[in-house]
Amino acid sequence: MPTKLFLLLIFLSHVASSLSKGCHPQDKKALLQIKQELNNPTLLSSWQPHTDCCYSNWYGVNCLPSNRVYFLIIEIDNDLSSSFPPSIGNLPYLESLLIYQLPNLTGSIPESITKLTKLRSLTISGTGISGPVPNFISKLKSLTYLDLSENRLSGTLPHNLYQLPNLEAIILQNNRLTGSIPSSYGYIKNLSSLFLSHNRLSGKLPMSLARLNSMALVVDLSHNKFEGNASMFFGFAKHTETIDLSWNMLSFEMENVELPKTLKLLDVSHNRVYGKLPEGVKNLQWLNVSYNRLCGEIPKGENMQNLGANSFSHNKCLCGSPLPSCKRI
Ligand SMILES: *[C@@H]1O[C@H](CO)[C@@H](O)[C@H](O)[C@H]1NC(C)=O
Ligand SMILES: *[C@@H]1O[C@H](CO)[C@@H](O)[C@H](O)[C@H]1NC(C)=O
Ligand SMILES: *[C@@H]1O[C@H](CO)[C@@H](O)[C@H](O)[C@H]1NC(C)=O
Ligand SMILES: *[C@@H]1O[C@H](CO)[C@@H](O)[C@H](O)[C@H]1NC(C)=O
Repeated sequence: MPTKLFLLLIFLSHVASSLSKGCHPQDKKALLQIKQELNNPTLLSSWQPHTDCCYSNWYGVNCLPSNRVYFLIIEIDNDLSSSFPPSIGNLPYLESLLIYQLPNLTGSIPESITKLTKLRSLTISGTGISGPVPNFISKLKSLTYLDLSENRLSGTLPHNLYQLPNLEAIILQNNRLTGSIPSSYGYIKNLSSLFLSHNRLSGKLPMSLARLNSMALVVDLSHNKFEGNASMFFGFAKHTETIDLSWNMLSFEMENVELPKTLKLLDVSHNRVYGKLPEGVKNLQWLNVSYNRLCGEIPKGENMQNLGANSFSHNKCLCGSPLPSCKRI
């Protein structure tokens, strides 16, 4: 009798554990396929067929209480050498995918990722992937965060990201992107981070970008070949915190620019900006207007003194502290 009871208990606990535990077989299969597509890297040696992918400390895998994989991170490995694993598209409950610092991961972004309809955060950064930022990204309807920075992506910016209603961050710096910013980007309602620096982007900035007005908006377009007017990023009613437009060919009148009250950092260095500095710059925490065509006296203020001459040098006739004083004409 005690033996039978004992066996029954073992049986019941086994049933219970297989109900509450055990990663979904589809997800396990997908992960093992991914491992194979990545040429079985040492990094993923914990991914073993005979163990449970949710409860056996598989590297970089996290599951929901429903035993579906919702989070996957594969990062920092110089030896991992393969093309992008298409089987990542077979993890239908994935909400967050982070592929980071895998310099020998190559190939392009496969269309299979459009099957990840629950994906909210996509990071593929510091890899050797090339090809375009594909238009099919706009099929990831849940996406709020898109980071494809520091890769070898080329071609133009996808024009249809405005179809992602929840998108808050577009982070594409340090690639080889060309062409201009699609005017539809002004209609991405909740966009609060736009990082496009260190690319080969060019042309005029679309006026529609004036519509971007999220709380704490951060815009970094530095180190490109943008030209013309960038006044649309300014305005008293905006909530912008950081604007970096440095190292472009922008040319606009600075004096009538309205600095948002929330603005803390402004860098327009290395452009063709002209006119006088607006009074409001004295309230900024950080300012760099060097290498432009500005004139007139630098507004007086404590922060301006702390910045030093490097923030103002190489202009047409800017003067006053921290530059030499304005001579009377
Ligand atoms: C990674 O790529 C570099 C050059 O891009 C190459 O020299 C190196 O051999 C590669 N490493 C492996 C493990 O393939
Ligand atoms: C934009 O953000 C606000 C506040 O975070 C949120 O309530 C709203 O649903 C978002 N709108 C869209 C279209 O995602
Ligand atoms: C730049 O655009 C603003 C409106 O955003 C306009 O008032 C201004 O005249 C334009 N400046 C130049 C030089 O085109
Ligand atoms: C301002 O920008 C110029 C050119 O980009 C740079 O050389 C200089 O160091 C910057 N100033 C400061 C204070 O960082």
